[in-house]
Amino acid sequence: MASLSSEFLGIKSPNPFWLASAPPTDKEYNIVRAFKAGWGGVVWKTLGEAGPPVVNVNGPRYGAIWGADRRLLGLNNIELITDRPLEVNLREMKTVKRDWPDRALIASIMVPCEEAAWKAILPLVEETGADGIELNFGCPHGMSERGMGSAVGQVPEYIEMVARWCKQTTRMPVIVKLTPNITDIRKPAAAAKAGGADAVSLINTINSITAVDLDSFAPEPTIDGKGSHGGYCGPAVKPIALSMVSEIARDPETAGLPISGIGGVTTWRDAAEFMALGCGNVQVCTAAMTYGFAIVKEMTAGLSDYLDGKDMALADLVGRATPNVTDWQNLNLNYVTKARIDQDSCIKCGRCFAACEDTSHQAIAMKPGRVFEVLDDECVACNLCVNVCPVENCITMERLDVGATDPRTGKVVVEEHGDWTAHPNNPGAVAAE
Ligand SMILES: Cc1cc2nc3c(=O)[nH]c(=O)nc-3n(C[C@H](O)[C@H](O)[C@H](O)COP(=O)(O)O)c2cc1C
Ligand code: SF4
Ligand code: SF4
Repeated sequence: MASLSSEFLGIKSPNPFWLASAPPTDKEYNIVRAFKAGWGGVVWKTLGEAGPPVVNVNGPRYGAIWGADRRLLGLNNIELITDRPLEVNLREMKTVKRDWPDRALIASIMVPCEEAAWKAILPLVEETGADGIELNFGCPHGMSERGMGSAVGQVPEYIEMVARWCKQTTRMPVIVKLTPNITDIRKPAAAAKAGGADAVSLINTINSITAVDLDSFAPEPTIDGKGSHGGYCGPAVKPIALSMVSEIARDPETAGLPISGIGGVTTWRDAAEFMALGCGNVQVCTAAMTYGFAIVKEMTAGLSDYLDGKDMALADLVGRATPNVTDWQNLNLNYVTKARIDQDSCIKCGRCFAACEDTSHQAIAMKPGRVFEVLDDECVACNLCVNVCPVENCITMERLDVGATDPRTGKVVVEEHGDWTAHPNNPGAVAAE
């Protein structure tokens, strides 16, 4: 079995699966059970400043989006940071770190954007023996209206300033958790780096309203006839998170900055994808909330098997896909494919025909007996039929050989790479030497 031992910012954990700061990491009871189940580390539910803790709503705090099989695809929450007293959390953190020295324990912190507030809490956290801190600049609801969370995370100058305060005050590694509720994720990441942060983690939750009740005409979850936007997470947000991770990993200004990947990690595959795009480890919330702590067993076994199959060490996976993320203009226009339908696995549902006929390129013919065939002279290789076909691998995209003629364009497929930067239709094209 490939070793999953992981080191992130010098913080060791038996595997790269950490629980993200959220209800699963709210208290010692949860975390001990999570560690027994096999989680490599935890980011404790976000701590606030000393004094009366925040107050949560007493009505429903979660909303959801489901697939047709009722599988949870997206979770929305209007929960705030920890509503337990700071001293209780600190005491429990100290006990947990003492009892589980081989697991990573990170303290997530959100206090007002004032130097004194950060300088007051950091020594208390350090005293627990925590391995590092994560600055929560991400929560999009409740705390942001009070000038914290995403209200800070959306202003790169604030991120840089707070990261600098923290680095000046503590010996602990500083991870800045980024909000996705921003146009260009590279800006807050660069600000974190400029402030001296050791790493970024992303994504926190996305602003969302999951549904509107059509009887009460209120957003869900509904509290006494009213609703509020919340933070969206779970499998549905993974594509957004992957893209943001890749932007940070490949931007020259932030390339090499360690990244902890968060957002919809549910299986070992999800984790491997985040790591391939440059994450040193991953954090998980919704999957644990949906399936319980034991899900980590499948994640670790699956990732280990995958690495064995590839004869690869965990460290070799990190960033393996980053060089293959590029801008559209660099994609090879001489790479030509056509859809192919495997008649043996086709169940004749006709979805591919409807999709291509009505909304794509009229490139699928329906022949007698509901036999569906691709017309190569019309197929633009958009992949829509592959995506709508209910039978996996029934439709595949196959590359035309070099030297073959594309019946749609009449052009011979050539071996050389040819992209938009040098295309004759591009007024800004750079002529080939
Ligand atoms: C109910 C709930 C509460 C959360 N509370 C916090 C929090 O206190 N601090 C924080 O940094 N992130 C918080 N998050 C965000 C998660 O840590 C994580 O960034 C997000 O859920 C995306 O990961 P996932 O798709 O695995 O859930 C919370 C998420 C949920 C669902
Ligand atoms: S790839 Fe696109 S154009 Fe080609 S057959 Fe499928 S849907 Fe039609
Ligand atoms: S969508 Fe798939 S299964 Fe349905 S007719 Fe087309 S190829 Fe066959």
